[in-house]
Parts: sequence; C-alpha cells; structure tokens
Amino acid sequence: MSESVAISPGASREVIYKEIAPQIAALVHGETDVIANLANVAAVLKEAFGFFWVGFYLAKGGELVLGPFQGPLACTRIKFTEGVCGKAFSDKKTIIVPDVDAFPGHIACSSASRSEIVVPILGSCGKAIGVLDVDSDRLDDFDEVDRRGLQEIVTMIERVMPSHTNLATTQ
Ligand code: SME
Repeated sequence: MSESVAISPGASREVIYKEIAPQIAALVHGETDVIANLANVAAVLKEAFGFFWVGFYLAKGGELVLGPFQGPLACTRIKFTEGVCGKAFSDKKTIIVPDVDAFPGHIACSSASRSEIVVPILGSCGKAIGVLDVDSDRLDDFDEVDRRGLQEIVTMIERVMPSHTNLATTQ
C-alpha cells in the first residue's frame, strides 16, 4: 500500500477527485475496520484538497458522534434533527451549504467555517449510519464536482462497511 497521496500539482478539483478515487479504493479494499478506513479517507481528503475540516460523524445511541477527522477540534455529538449533519443524515441526501450563516440551525463548531457539504453514509440495509462532513473557510466553496466526487468516495466506504459493526443504526 502506498503511504502518500499522488496528485498532480495545480490540478482542478475534478481532476484530483479522479486521481484519488482509485487510491482510496485501494486503501479501503480488504480492510473491514470502520475507524481505520474512515481515518485514512479523512487524511487523503485533507492532504489532497487542504479542506479546513473533513471528518465523519457516526450514528451511535440515537445521535451522531464524532468519528475520525482532520482539522480543528469539533463538536462531539449532534442530534439527528440538528445542524447540516443531522439534516443530511435524516433526509439521506447530500446538502451543500454555500453560506453557513444562512442555513437555519447550522452548528458552528468553528467560527472560521463559512461553507459546508455533508454526504450521508448508508448501511447495507439502506439506513443512514453516519455522514461525511467537509467544511471550508471560504464562502461558496462546494459545487456539483464536490457532490459527485465525495459521493463516489462515500459509496466506496459503504461497500466495505462490515454488515455488523458496533454502530447503532436508528434511521
Ligand atoms: N456544521 C455542522 C457541525 C459539524 S462541524 O461543522 C465539524 C452542522 O451544522 O451539522
């Protein structure tokens, strides 16, 4: 397994998503440990794009609990009904927030966060089991390229999620 992320210097985000997709597939292939996989995916996304914050929240005991992440410290627990993460989780739909101040109920873990994208992670039964959350310190930093790229990465994660984990799936 390669120990560094190979990306073309100065490439567009679209190109970088294409370059990292096979590298992430190789990283998670054959590894069934959820935390190990999520930790490496967060590291790859941080290294490839330099996002302000990138990480996972996982459904445990009826709420979303902070999982592996890269970036400043973050809120530990989020209710299924709260924030961008809770909404993406409950609706099982990706949400792009161009301006976090304009999103009702946005949870500001960091005042430096200006825009955000959250992708739900679905278990094999179709229930939401967590989210991938990416924050930027720039307004309007995410678009359809990010939606496609991050959803593709989440699909890879979903494929290698073991059918039995210690995650409490309540959605
Ligand atoms: N802003 C998120 C909370 C998580 S942090 O951004 C890391 C939300 O509104 O759900």
